[in-house]
Amino acid sequence: MKIGIVGCGKISDIYLKNCHERFPGMEVVALADLVVEAAEAKAKEYRIGRVLPVDELIADPDVEAVLNLTIPAAHAEICEKTILAGKHSYTEKPLAIDFADGRRLLDLAKEKGVRLGAAPDTFLGGGLQTVRKLLDDGWVGEPVAATAFMTGRGPEGWHPNPAFFYQRGAGPLFDMGPYYITTLVTLLGPVKRLSAATRITFSERTATSKERYGEKIPVEVPTYVAGTLEFHSGAIGTLVMSFDVWKSRLPRIDLFGTLGSIGLPDPNTFWGPVQLFRPGAEDWAEVPLSHGYSENSRGVGLLDLSRAVETGRPHRAAGEVSLHVLEVMHGLLESGETGAFYEMTTGCERPAALPVGLNDGEMD
Ligand SMILES: NC(=O)c1ccc[n+]([C@@H]2O[C@H](COP(=O)([O-])OP(=O)(O)OC[C@H]3O[C@@H](n4cnc5c(N)ncnc54)[C@H](O)[C@@H]3O)[C@@H](O)[C@H]2O)c1
Repeated sequence: MKIGIVGCGKISDIYLKNCHERFPGMEVVALADLVVEAAEAKAKEYRIGRVLPVDELIADPDVEAVLNLTIPAAHAEICEKTILAGKHSYTEKPLAIDFADGRRLLDLAKEKGVRLGAAPDTFLGGGLQTVRKLLDDGWVGEPVAATAFMTGRGPEGWHPNPAFFYQRGAGPLFDMGPYYITTLVTLLGPVKRLSAATRITFSERTATSKERYGEKIPVEVPTYVAGTLEFHSGAIGTLVMSFDVWKSRLPRIDLFGTLGSIGLPDPNTFWGPVQLFRPGAEDWAEVPLSHGYSENSRGVGLLDLSRAVETGRPHRAAGEVSLHVLEVMHGLLESGETGAFYEMTTGCERPAALPVGLNDGEMD
């Protein structure tokens, strides 16, 4: 599949390495960025023939799919243009900032008969696919509940440009939530209803990273989000996403079943460790990974999409999943404001598990 990339910032390197140099059957043929020099620098580094203005890249007859690596505020616009041009669209997370935009993208893609895919694709990594296999093979029985915790003190101490993390479309929920919620949804299925309590703890932050030292950052979005997710399956999810916490002893994700527990890896990675506890054992046992793609494989969702186009099967990092995740995040914020339960209006299928023993470079 011939790919055009829009957005040549920080995350583009790993996508260029994987989608241009590592994965078989894929090639990046053109780059675009609002900052032309950014695209030119990457074109030189990765030996990519063409740098084009954004609209020309999307319209280029050689480009079959557009990989959207722009900032969240530009995701919907670039995806919409791509779909309207009749090309497949794959975007970094979140699918869009507004739920209505995400829904429109999905409808448009269906209408135009093109694929819409979205990150995160870490659920296709060796770590989380091993968890999926343990769950599907019944090692912990029926899922009862899962906890998902992402707690820290925020990025203003290290990030060169931290202000956007505290604006609409970001915060701990929209920035990190997609990894945690996508993991829960791809393992446990869709959410039926949810509730949350939220707060903005500090109305202003002070950057201490060297690039922005002393700059004041206004905080627009909740920085402590505590949610309860009720899945259609009956499982219950507990979610805490926060930039207010100096230190905690919380695990990232634990999954509790009727016959045992699984300790999940960091969902922002492709690797392990995966831990299993079954009654009778003294402690957790580490489970060897049953699948490949256990190094940084960002873009594997697009590799899967390209194979899905060839064979006509559904792709796994699907627009339906990312729209459902986007609605969960909006629902949590809304419930935090209203104090009422939020009933989900979207659903999604659990993406098919990857074949057991799949190695790097292979895709079904
Ligand atoms: N940086 C990370 O570690 C990381 C990790 C995972 C996911 N992401 C996601 O990847 C995306 C990009 O993040 P990043 O860290 O690379 O950001 P970045 O700011 O480093 O890069 C974004 C690039 O997009 C360009 N851009 C913005 N709007 C554009 C538009 N309308 N048209 C063309 N180009 C445009 C910018 O000029 C910039 O070069 C975000 O959605 C982010 O959530 C980032």
